Amino acid sequence: MITVHTVAELREHVRTARQAGKRIGFVPTMGNLHAGHISLIDRANNETDYVVSSVFVNPLQFNDQSDLQRYPRTLPQDQEKLSAADCDLLFAPDVDEMYPNGQTEQSIVHVPVVSEGLCGGSRPGHFDGVSTVVTKLFNQVLPDAAFFGEKDFQQVAVIKKMVNDLCMPIEVVTVPTARAEDGLALSSRNGYLSDEERQLATGLYKTLNEIAEALNRGEQLDKTLAQASLRLEERGFRPDYVEVRAAADLSPAAPGVSEVVILGAAFLGNARLIDNLVVTLN
Ligand code: PAJ
Repeated sequence: MITVHTVAELREHVRTARQAGKRIGFVPTMGNLHAGHISLIDRANNETDYVVSSVFVNPLQFNDQSDLQRYPRTLPQDQEKLSAADCDLLFAPDVDEMYPNGQTEQSIVHVPVVSEGLCGGSRPGHFDGVSTVVTKLFNQVLPDAAFFGEKDFQQVAVIKKMVNDLCMPIEVVTVPTARAEDGLALSSRNGYLSDEERQLATGLYKTLNEIAEALNRGEQLDKTLAQASLRLEERGFRPDYVEVRAAADLSPAAPGVSEVVILGAAFLGNARLIDNLVVTLN
């Protein structure tokens, strides 16, 4: 695997691959890679001929400066994992390479409606930062297909709408959430958990599953969600939100919509964990 740090080098390597007739796959990340990220690389290797990944902790998407500062940066280990997973090219720019005119003078891509509420509600500006950096990365890499994790369900919905609205010629592929044996969704933020909190952390996914069971028993939505918040508190969390939305477009789950997604975010100690569960209601 080759690592490059500049857009110019990135473009040159991708151009050579494309000229050789290769289909280009792209996996954007913020590093501190785990098996969830690697499952995206595996999928990209299955579906494309030349896999590019990026590691860039994007300041524009952090609404909380202390969250940005403590975000784990582990490039040498990330390089080893990507290389072992047969990634072809790693793009690891610094902040000046990505924002040469500074962040305040950066044009912004805003994706309305789907970016509002849920994580967009609790993290103002977060999705503008995501859609802007992903647009830049797409224009730098020019991939045929890009791979995103279902774990960040709202993020994929934002990216899919953006690609569709702005006619970006890129196939967006959603990859299922990789989980630890006890059900906890793998996340770089799990590293913030103490041993004791790590034991409790599976409570978020458990609660989402309990909501699915309650709804399938025919229990009323508002009551079920109120109970779920209490359950999260009993399990040691400070709930941020628990909601049920239409899986197709994250619109409010109207009666009669059967394909829904249950989304939850909750603090456990210093970590803000998110998870979701797609269910077909009977
Ligand atoms: P990051 O949190 O590093 O995640 C990179 C990609 O890995 C995202 O598509 C995310 O959904 C996916 N991912 C994370 N945990 C996963 C898991 N347990 N199973 C499957 N996929 C998982 O998401 C970002 O970075 C950034 O917002 C980014 C898109 C790179 C823009 O800066």
